[in-house]
Amino acid sequence: MSRRAQFLEVLGIATEWVPRARNDALAEAVPALAPAPAAMPVAQAPVATTAAQTAPAAAVAAEAVQPLSAPAVQPAARVPVVPALVPAGPAPGSAQAEREAAIAAMDWPALDAAVAGCTACGLCQTRTNTVFGVGDRQAEWMLVGEAPGENEDLQGEPFVGQAGKLLDNMLGALGLARGRNVFIANVLKCRPPGNRNPEPEEVAQCEPFLRRQIALVRPRVIVVLGRFAAQSLLRTTTPIGKLRGTVHAYEGIPVVVTYHPAYLLRTLTDKARAWEDLCLAREVHDRAGAGA
Ligand code: URA
Repeated sequence: MSRRAQFLEVLGIATEWVPRARNDALAEAVPALAPAPAAMPVAQAPVATTAAQTAPAAAVAAEAVQPLSAPAVQPAARVPVVPALVPAGPAPGSAQAEREAAIAAMDWPALDAAVAGCTACGLCQTRTNTVFGVGDRQAEWMLVGEAPGENEDLQGEPFVGQAGKLLDNMLGALGLARGRNVFIANVLKCRPPGNRNPEPEEVAQCEPFLRRQIALVRPRVIVVLGRFAAQSLLRTTTPIGKLRGTVHAYEGIPVVVTYHPAYLLRTLTDKARAWEDLCLAREVHDRAGAGA
């Protein structure tokens, strides 16, 4: 079974079928399904539409069908890299600037201890455990989520709930596994009570930890999971639908944005798009390796 088919199966889309007549119309309407024009950058490429997004399964089954070919992911050479906005940062000489400088100089054990003992924001009062991150500390891939949920808070490990199972399946479809060439972390290391959205102040206090983790791992590619993590990391308010399909940069490292697995569990229509994002991330990863 192809990796794409495997991926779509774990996401609950067993087979992509499209009516024969509709296939031509789709290829016309969605050029990504037709042979790729010579130099279309991914940033401008329309998102590929699949049968799962265009027609209910029962309607499709009643018609003559043929499989869609996988939309080609454009070579990374044509992918523009969009630099992140430069953060304003704390005032030079301020206590926060000193704290950030100290964190930026930490090695893994010091960083581990600093996160475990952090009291920089109110989340320390409600957490059960800090959730540092998990995986290979020399990984070529880094995945960044939003914040621990209930299960993660209890176990001290990121993505251990239902969304985590889906994430593991997504990694498997890419030929990766948790802890093998992948490091998984969150923007926040402590659970916001009731899974509320993180507050800007909490992000400001916690982000230096993530920045140091990224600097220590030095991955070839960062895959950002979900709107919140993407907007925090890239310091933007651009909607996730517009952040996808473009290679961004965080501290000089390429960043690919995709949907959060918890969202994918609820939203059938965006599941196939996540596969396109991961194909782009793989392309960026392989290209970074070729140039290393
Ligand atoms: N959602 C996240 O963003 N991170 C986790 O660790 C768990 C759920």
